[in-house]
Amino acid sequence: MTDTVAGLLDEIADIGRDPARGGYSRPVHSDAEHTLREWFRGHAARRGLDVRTDHNGTIWAWHAPSGSRDGAAVTGSHLDSVPGGGAYDGPLGIASALVAFDQLAARGVGGTRAIAVFGEEEGSRFGVACLGSRLATGAITPERALALKDTDGLTYAEVAARSGLDPERMGPDPDAIARMKAFVELHVEQGRGLVDLGRPVGVATSILGHGRWRISIQGEGNHAGTTLMADRRDPMVAAGRLIAAVRDLARAEPGARATVGRLQPVPGGTNVIASTVDVWLDVRHPDDTVTASLVARIGEEAAELATDEGCTATLTEESLSGTVDFDAALRDRLSAHLGDAPQLPTGAGHDAGVLAGRVPTAMLFTRNPTGVSHAPEELCEDADAEAGAAALADGLELLAADPPTVPTAPDTDTTGGCPLV
Ligand code: GLV
Ligand code: MN
Ligand code: MN
Repeated sequence: MTDTVAGLLDEIADIGRDPARGGYSRPVHSDAEHTLREWFRGHAARRGLDVRTDHNGTIWAWHAPSGSRDGAAVTGSHLDSVPGGGAYDGPLGIASALVAFDQLAARGVGGTRAIAVFGEEEGSRFGVACLGSRLATGAITPERALALKDTDGLTYAEVAARSGLDPERMGPDPDAIARMKAFVELHVEQGRGLVDLGRPVGVATSILGHGRWRISIQGEGNHAGTTLMADRRDPMVAAGRLIAAVRDLARAEPGARATVGRLQPVPGGTNVIASTVDVWLDVRHPDDTVTASLVARIGEEAAELATDEGCTATLTEESLSGTVDFDAALRDRLSAHLGDAPQLPTGAGHDAGVLAGRVPTAMLFTRNPTGVSHAPEELCEDADAEAGAAALADGLELLAADPPTVPTAPDTDTTGGCPLV
């Protein structure tokens, strides 16, 4: 094969374009994501890889010359996107994996290896990020995952079944986890660390702890023209004040990041006072106890602001992932093997972070000249993309020759409802 990463990404450049938002909208189990999955399956099959989709919807493309899938060096990423996202978050890792496998084949590198494509990494359709890897590791129960709803009210169970998966079979996959001797995810960098260092490829040190909460503010739906201002219980007013309070509370906490990027008023009409508003909150901090206390303060503020408007508020934890420090010995080995590649942290979540509690795991980053991500301006220059794929091949070759024996950290993930106010 003579594919390049840039050439592979060119092939999918028109899939899932979002004319309204700009960039790409490729939600899990949408037509766009299905087309991308078919595209990947075709490329994997053309390379002679054995392609299977497991009970959680994860695609595995295997190179297993001995017939055994044990002791596999696995790489992979995702094909779903945030709404209006960039071209590289996810697909860069998949395209780089295909090119890296070509290079390993050309070099005659043996051993068992696989490419994994995880579903709903962004959580942009069903709210919980990294759903595929969480299901596999048991970091979310199948009952809870299957009951998650998209904005059309469809459950994950319904949508997965329409895509040919059997919801009854979804859940932990200890065999898949046990088969992996290592997992390495390549990803476009989502900041300017490598730009500032003048380097095309880096190795991840850590993933910032992060979580998502839904603050549901209930008021009274009514007519915009006939309801006097004094008579209103308008949850949108409380939501507006809450968004500013989130910003202020996070600014007062060094190292914290808090974002409201999604607001869902019901019913959402220009001439309708909303009956309910869901305010989706994303909070991140290196210290998980600081995240918890910041979210608690936001919950108290939400309750007060809701009361001011004659409304009530309920805060529900949708997902929580503790800070992940990738294994220092593994990342030092990779960095040394890749010409002293710089090591840098990330504020973004990844399937690699979920797997790190179970499998020796590492991440490679490829330079992003804009430093922008989750937006159409996200970028990776062609030469850097090829350098990333070559680094991934080098890393997988290193792991094939000398697999890591690092101990795995306990999983810190929790999910679940948590009404506070
Ligand atoms: C995923 O990219 C996230 O960090 O939310
Ligand atoms: Mn990603
Ligand atoms: Mn992302």
